[in-house]
Amino acid sequence: MKQLFPNIWKRGRQILTRNLVPGSRGYTEQLVTIAGKEYRVWDPNRSKPAAAITKGLKNLPLRPGMKILYLGIASGQTASYFSDIIGPEGIIYGVEISERTFRELNPVAEKRGNMVPILANARKPEEYNWIEPVDLVYQDVATDDQSEILIRNCKAFLKPDGTAMIAIKARSIDVTKDPDIIYKQEEKKLKKEFRIMEKIKLDPYEKDHAFFVLKPKSKE
Ligand SMILES: C[S@@+](CC[C@H](N)C(=O)[O-])C[C@H]1O[C@@H](n2cnc3c(N)ncnc32)[C@H](O)[C@@H]1O
Repeated sequence: MKQLFPNIWKRGRQILTRNLVPGSRGYTEQLVTIAGKEYRVWDPNRSKPAAAITKGLKNLPLRPGMKILYLGIASGQTASYFSDIIGPEGIIYGVEISERTFRELNPVAEKRGNMVPILANARKPEEYNWIEPVDLVYQDVATDDQSEILIRNCKAFLKPDGTAMIAIKARSIDVTKDPDIIYKQEEKKLKKEFRIMEKIKLDPYEKDHAFFVLKPKSKE
């Protein structure tokens, strides 16, 4: 087993995180026990950061104890892996707009203890302006104004030395255009505010998606 990042390992083709809540699954993922410790298999077909890691991402700004703002947390599948990685000292503020999805998120958050579900619109950071400054803003809302939403939230909550990550879904921005043209167009918007540390296309794991790791320019 090879360690890729803090609290993330590779075993054969599998990516593993140490299960923060042993015996409990986030959804239907495989659990494996190695030397008496339980790990969860992180499937690149079901989670964009896992797809990025599988495709060779080098800069993954996830560390134990980190504070994260997660925009578009849905039912918490990917966030449950972030929760494993940051451990009990870290915290994830998870924003979700859909009430139905939010109901599925609540039991996951209760079980894990380091997730704070927030039913709100990520276009309106003022709705959750009570949260503390964060080390990482992760955004996966799949809307046509994804980049603008990320920028607004980073201005409001990202620490000066923090990092942002975004999963751009080309088809949510313009279904008629070539995804490469969309990635370039969004990169241009992001470059006004951020330095691009890394970008990676997620095909074939997540079709027509690109993953960006970013550092705020004005705060460097
Ligand atoms: C692609 S899914 C997220 C999947 C999740 N990140 C994961 O990997 O487990 C996008 C989510 O963003 C939510 N969403 C869309 N627009 C939003 C907004 N303006 N504010 C907050 N959440 C939003 C959707 O309801 C949906 O649950």
